[in-house]
Amino acid sequence: MGSKPFFQKGFGGETEGAQPSGNACIRVCNPHYNQKGTKKTMSDFNVIVIGAGPGGYVCALKAAALGLKTAVVEERDVGGTCLNRGCIPTKALLHASEVYAEAKGAEAYGVTVGSCAFDFTKMHEKKSETVAKLRGGIESLFKSAGVTLLRGKGVVEGSGKVRAGETLYTADSIVIATGSTPARPPIPGLSQEGVITSDELLEGEATFDESLVIIGGGVIGVEFASVYARLGCRVTVIEALPRLLARMDKDLSQNLQMLLKKKGVKVLTDAMVKEIVRDGDGALTVRYETKGKEGAAQGSRVLVAIGRRPNAAGLFAPGVEVETNRGAIVVNDRFETSLPGVYAIGDVSSKIQLAHVASAQGTVVAEEIAGVAASVDLSTVPSCIYVSPEIGSVGLIEEEAAEQGYDVKTAKVMMYANGKTLIVGGERGFMKLVFDGATRRILGAHLMCERATDMISEFSAAIVNGLTVEQMASVIRPHPTFNEAVSELFEAAARL
Ligand code: FAD
Ligand code: NAI
Repeated sequence: MGSKPFFQKGFGGETEGAQPSGNACIRVCNPHYNQKGTKKTMSDFNVIVIGAGPGGYVCALKAAALGLKTAVVEERDVGGTCLNRGCIPTKALLHASEVYAEAKGAEAYGVTVGSCAFDFTKMHEKKSETVAKLRGGIESLFKSAGVTLLRGKGVVEGSGKVRAGETLYTADSIVIATGSTPARPPIPGLSQEGVITSDELLEGEATFDESLVIIGGGVIGVEFASVYARLGCRVTVIEALPRLLARMDKDLSQNLQMLLKKKGVKVLTDAMVKEIVRDGDGALTVRYETKGKEGAAQGSRVLVAIGRRPNAAGLFAPGVEVETNRGAIVVNDRFETSLPGVYAIGDVSSKIQLAHVASAQGTVVAEEIAGVAASVDLSTVPSCIYVSPEIGSVGLIEEEAAEQGYDVKTAKVMMYANGKTLIVGGERGFMKLVFDGATRRILGAHLMCERATDMISEFSAAIVNGLTVEQMASVIRPHPTFNEAVSELFEAAARL
């Protein structure tokens, strides 16, 4: 999605409680806005957003902040996949399992924990408590921003017309933000009991599996493998491609694969699943083929995590056509679909299915509808994976940079000499930088270390702002921190 042409650096946008910005002044003096600064309309709403996930709710809040009369239609809980059965619940379970793993290793730091056990039901309860708090937060934000929440399924009846439940509403613009659902490949035996997706695992009953087979060694696969392996489950990951996280930097994949194996996870790559059958003893057997040889992995349940499909089922009334590509709604770089006045954002239309991408697109599309310049640069997207140690990656990997004709240079530092890493007993980690030897600009960064998911934003800021290796090396970073390794990385790069 190349929205760069209409991104303008230096545009402030509006934040709650801020002094009137340039845009607020424009609204007050604008004949299209009433005295309260709300855009005039003959429709029920200026904007109706369908779906209240991170794309939809951020879009609605931004639209309301920009003076648009806004409604959101949601058929389930607000917060979407991310809050209810995605980002937040997985990270809550990852954290709970990490607390358990740390408690087991506490002796090494002179802390006696006594007997150490876990209660999976309580871990799920704690997760649900966090989710409920955040959900309540979104509903309050809607109320305070004046966003109308319409409960029910949203159906586009044509340009400017949305049916929410039984009621037909009109809107000047419609934003589709209906997200995605887990993909289910046509594997024999997939529909039987015990074969689940992340939806059932996170929203269903808290059932701890002594053994789990995960089909798919992508992001969901490796995060769940981490949770379950930490709790002592026998985990097998079956991945069709030659390595885990196949689209990421090779060193990240290799290091992760090695660390997962060290924790007892069986990782099978280049493996194609043939069928899933139930054995006489009640367990499930996944039969696969790898490099011409047949094999089998057994588990009490099977988690299918092979990607997610855009969710547009039943979204358009009969006779309403919109262009799609393999189920994804096709949009231009202003997020317009083939139906006039109808936009699409987030997982339902985006090549990158991440919450922060959906939210950033939500902000930009609201600005587009309000007629103000985009405040977010959508060209640089960080990806984070919450395994141990964490993974943070942004920009180009070496191979991509070479394909694009850059004078590719790379620098790498290992984390074993970093003081903070030694203090916390961090696992084998590294930071890798990809930059252009000709301009010295940073092209990509790939971190696998403690707090990589927080530290990656420093590299995103450098890429978005076209900063050089030398500019980044000139910054003092505090001691002792994991971040000191960033200085070391840029110093190493500056020598190249
Ligand atoms: P969604 O969040 O899917 O929201 C769509 C909303 O639309 C839903 O609430 C749905 O009920 C509603 N809806 C659908 N159709 C209709 C209709 N016709 N009428 C009314 N409402 C409708 N991303 C990250 O960035 N970081 C992570 O750590 C992360 N972890 C993840 C972990 C898991 C297990 C999963 C599955 C995903 C994870 N993701 C993560 C991806 C992230 O959840 C999605 O990219 C994000 O939720 C997409 O946001 P969205 O607003 O496009 O759609
Ligand atoms: P994914 O695309 O990350 O990984 C799917 C994996 O399954 C791929 O490696 C693919 O090669 C493999 N695969 C496909 N078919 C297969 C088969 N038949 N047998 C074996 N392997 C097969 O998708 P995943 O993990 O389902 O995640 C979906 C989306 O959710 C991702 O796009 C990601 O963006 C998002 N997500 C993000 C997280 C984060 O940001 N931390 C965490 C979890 C999910």
